[in-house]
Amino acid sequence: MPFTIAIDGPAASGKGTIARAISRRFGFHHLDTGLLYRAVGAKGGDPILAAEGLSAEDLARSDLRTNEAGQAASRVAAIPEVRAALIEFQRRFAVLEPGAVLDGRDIGTVICPEAELKLYVIASDEVRAGRRATELGADPAETLAALRERDARDSARATAPLRPADDAVILDTTDMSITEAVSRAIVEVQTRRR
Ligand code: CDP
Repeated sequence: MPFTIAIDGPAASGKGTIARAISRRFGFHHLDTGLLYRAVGAKGGDPILAAEGLSAEDLARSDLRTNEAGQAASRVAAIPEVRAALIEFQRRFAVLEPGAVLDGRDIGTVICPEAELKLYVIASDEVRAGRRATELGADPAETLAALRERDARDSARATAPLRPADDAVILDTTDMSITEAVSRAIVEVQTRRR
């Protein structure tokens, strides 16, 4: 049986970093599901057709990490048909052997409600904005405003809003180093794999 790990949380909370580290540590596959929505948003045109026809090339674009691409992603992510078009690919990925780590907003609640481990990673708004601004070389105040706008839209949408699953483990990384956050996550995996 494959082992599925769902990691959700608001923008720039550290989900991606934790997901990558965990997947390396356990030899699991990793899918950054935010990239799917970023690619749909960046493609332009009809977002539903973009989601239905998403290709590896679309995901390899070099301009998907910017604050603007994040905003475009969160706008198309509110469209139910866009989300529906991406479900099957994510669910198939989630059951790859020997295991898979998926990070996003609705992995524990909608995509993989049966995941063996669900983590919900949070951090204060200021810490998240600081991390993302450093990563992008962007202005911290503008980045903070962009993250807040995105979180508000992601939490308020009717389909698959951002929220922790009832059985998610909440990991607050505000005062944690990357190493500490990853170690905590590894312990949660190990407890469930025995
Ligand atoms: O890296 P960051 O946390 O800033 O964002 P991301 O994970 O790349 O996601 C970009 C946007 O895609 C989010 O703001 C959501 O609107 C959307 N998204 C989603 O709706 N569902 C997911 N499973 C993943 C991302």
